[in-house]
Amino acid sequence: MVKITVIKTKPYTDQKPGTSGLRKRVTVFQQNQHYAENFIQSIISTIDPAQRQEGTLVVGGDGRFFMKDAIQLIVQIAAANGIGRLVIGQNGIMSTPAVSCVIRKIKAIGGIILTASHNPGGPSGDFGIKFNISSGGPAPEGITDKIFQISKSLQEYHICPELKVDLSATGKQIFEVDTFKPFTVEIVDSVESYAEMLRDIFDFAALKELLSGPNHINVRLDAMHGVMGPYVRKIVCEELGSPANSAVNCVPSEDFGGHHPDPNLTYAADLVSAMKGGEYDFGAAFDGDGDRNMVLGKHGFFVNPSDSVAVIGANITSIPYFQKTGVKGLARSMPTSGALDNVAKALKMPLFETPTGWKFFGNLMDAGKLSLCGEESFGTGSDHIREKDGLWAVLAWLSILATRKQSVEDIMKDHWQKFGRNFFTRYDYEEVDSDAANKMIDHLQTTMSDKAFLGQKFSSGDKTYQVEKADNFEYTDPVDGSVSKGQGLRIIFSDGSRIIFRLSGTGSAGATIRLYIDSYEKDPQKIYQDPQVMLAPLVDIALRISQLQEMTGRIFISGLNCMYGPKSFGSDTNFVFCKVCCFSICRLFFHMFLWYTKKQ
Ligand code: G1P
Ligand code: ZN
Repeated sequence: MVKITVIKTKPYTDQKPGTSGLRKRVTVFQQNQHYAENFIQSIISTIDPAQRQEGTLVVGGDGRFFMKDAIQLIVQIAAANGIGRLVIGQNGIMSTPAVSCVIRKIKAIGGIILTASHNPGGPSGDFGIKFNISSGGPAPEGITDKIFQISKSLQEYHICPELKVDLSATGKQIFEVDTFKPFTVEIVDSVESYAEMLRDIFDFAALKELLSGPNHINVRLDAMHGVMGPYVRKIVCEELGSPANSAVNCVPSEDFGGHHPDPNLTYAADLVSAMKGGEYDFGAAFDGDGDRNMVLGKHGFFVNPSDSVAVIGANITSIPYFQKTGVKGLARSMPTSGALDNVAKALKMPLFETPTGWKFFGNLMDAGKLSLCGEESFGTGSDHIREKDGLWAVLAWLSILATRKQSVEDIMKDHWQKFGRNFFTRYDYEEVDSDAANKMIDHLQTTMSDKAFLGQKFSSGDKTYQVEKADNFEYTDPVDGSVSKGQGLRIIFSDGSRIIFRLSGTGSAGATIRLYIDSYEKDPQKIYQDPQVMLAPLVDIALRISQLQEMTGRIFISGLNCMYGPKSFGSDTNFVFCKVCCFSICRLFFHMFLWYTKKQ
């Protein structure tokens, strides 16, 4: 009989879940007494006691440092709180989309995912704990608020300290726990349920033909030492016949090989250079927990994530799943470019614009209003589960390639010809002093709310833009009427171009300011131009209006990550300078020069 112990604890005030769960440095979880225990107890306390004994929770993570310790704590705290059954991925490994899939499949009451997504791992990296509900999706704000409230006043937690489970072997382990019915821990294959779901969504025979038939294409998939390794090997290599060496970095590691498991042009640079060689027709990378993806064509042709979801939308009949379910609606997060809107308009389909974060898509899907959605942050997915899904997006693209028999680049260019192109970029100012970041946002909001701001014209180079609308994005959920305020400052110009500023909700230290720029172009002469050049005037205007550089002291742009800007300068340094950065540096030197001459 396993005993339950009640441990006295002190509440923490900083356990507010962000855009995607509670994310902190590993050291915060490790060094603060009961830190992880408190948060796990707070999550479980939100589950109705009446549901616990008959209920199952799914548990899995991306393999990062501290994951196994956290899983043992979840087992011990779940047992002591009367949860009837846990289903855990073998060795704790289960991708975020797979957890969502398993929750739905076995009708679990929810799940706990151990991941900090694309953030670095290892002892000095990040860790995260996220709660998903019975729909398979991230807990909505009502529940994350409740978790936060409980965490702020938690005085004790319940735990079975002697209970230890073996995570390595699949099968059931049953424990007799004081006062409760027997507690079952079931260790399951990390891939199988998820693979079974994909077989139902896609035409595996056509994909097999594409990847291993006589006229097969060559692909390179980079799991970035994250959770996706076993999924890619099993599904793409073993099942669809792609050669074993087409999948790289496939062994999950606690520190992701010392890298950022972040599928973008900066951190998946190895994939980009492998693709540049021209040997591969299609390339993709995944993040640590497998919900994000980056798609590349031959010679490293980059598909912007906002375009990726639009292309999938425009070619949705290539995916058998949607032939069965029909397409109910499309959605994107507010900062994501309007490329999907153009498709929605052409297909006469409803388009929803939601705040940042996948949780906002869930209600729309549950209500049968949404089939396909995406975010600019390399997230793409559909209503097959309630998380974004990296491998799903890759198989969606491969299905389109199989149907259209064209290259990635030709598909993208045809798309722009037909729908016009939304030039889009995003800049991240990481680890900015929180006070400075808040001041900058407050200052910008004050500037924007001045009556004279509407109609004001801003010029840079030969471009002039006139402000048509300026607000802090507010979302009313069309299903439950809940209102989410303060979701990002938007300046919308009369030609539809947009400048957006928002503070990240997933950072683990200081504040991260994100600047997004979206500008539509339908002139066929201009659609193939370099996005960084096309958007440079709007970036300049954004920096001027916000005074971001002056107010945050980020004049030397360290920590600025041009998410979509290919390196065009300083490629042998640690910094990534795109053309817009170069422009900012020149501007800075120019101002220093003016200052110096004035001083003389
Ligand atoms: C970031 C992305 C957002 C995504 C989230 C979780 O959140 O911007 O689109 O849903 O990670 O993967 P942020 O840090 O901007 O709050
Ligand atoms: Zn992720």
